[in-house]
Amino acid sequence: MLRAAGADFEFEEFDVNADAYLRTGVPITDEVWKQVAKADSILFGAVGDQRLNDSTYLAGVLLRLRFELDLYVNLRPAKLYDDRLSPLRREDRRQVDLLVVRENTEGLYVGMGGRFKKGTKDEIAVQEDVNTHIGVTRIIEHAFQVARHEVVMVDKSNAMTFAGALWQERWKAVGAAHPKIKTRHLYVDAASMQLVKDPSQFDVIVTSNLFGDILSDLTAELIGGMGIAPSANIDPATGRGLFEPVHGTAPDIAGRGLVNPIGAILSAAMMVRHLGVPDMADAIEGAVESAIRARECTRDIGGDLSTSQAGDAVVKRLRD
Ligand code: IPM
Ligand code: MG
Repeated sequence: MLRAAGADFEFEEFDVNADAYLRTGVPITDEVWKQVAKADSILFGAVGDQRLNDSTYLAGVLLRLRFELDLYVNLRPAKLYDDRLSPLRREDRRQVDLLVVRENTEGLYVGMGGRFKKGTKDEIAVQEDVNTHIGVTRIIEHAFQVARHEVVMVDKSNAMTFAGALWQERWKAVGAAHPKIKTRHLYVDAASMQLVKDPSQFDVIVTSNLFGDILSDLTAELIGGMGIAPSANIDPATGRGLFEPVHGTAPDIAGRGLVNPIGAILSAAMMVRHLGVPDMADAIEGAVESAIRARECTRDIGGDLSTSQAGDAVVKRLRD
């Protein structure tokens, strides 16, 4: 299948994981960084380990890759492949085919701030929410580039007035340049409510780093759960990308063959689409959909296969 679709990729694997971090004390060594940073694309497993109780590893791996490679667009699609996976009772509201466009390099994730009088009763903790003219503009622009008919901008400008005002200004300016695409604004609380009430109303949602993180767990649940939600982290300027399932490492079920491989497989599909092989991406998505509908999948989505059997069920369809 890889060849039939005309793709010619070179794969390289890197030892970036919690074991390596515990051994070396470095999240990504300089040597590995140099090579990873040169790659056209990174297919990323998942991050998190119960042995690590601070955020140094997380910041040194995933957030460093997003920030330093300037992967400012985080695409988190949610598509319902089988009706039975919807948690919603009303059938007419189950059509989910939406895309969360999450700002990925700013906001509350930049790690600015500090703790004053740490550990005392008088402690003050400050976490800065960084929003730049360029950052807000470019992510909203990207949302218009990928929208089919509507972009909904989600913020909390009624309470977070400074950052909110910048988002509102850039939203109006960028929106005016795309008259063919409908626009709508929702506060994040109302957006959460609407997503559960009737997700079929959404096409593209554009929002900040933190709100996008939260809403994309919600949208994953609308299509069958965290196990099947993919994502892309890209810099449209350089074309570079990092592709990863939305889920983490699920330490509670690790090593027992229970983990759903579909989030990772669909992330690979997003990667090959981004690398310019849409036929292959369509084939992978089609194989996933067919396996899900045949219930040849893991238990979390109603099958009884192990992780590797569920992976094989997809591969088998690609070979046919
Ligand atoms: C995600 C994850 C990460 C995030 C964590 C692991 C820092 O939740 O990719 O959604 O918040 O971005
Ligand atoms: Mg998250």
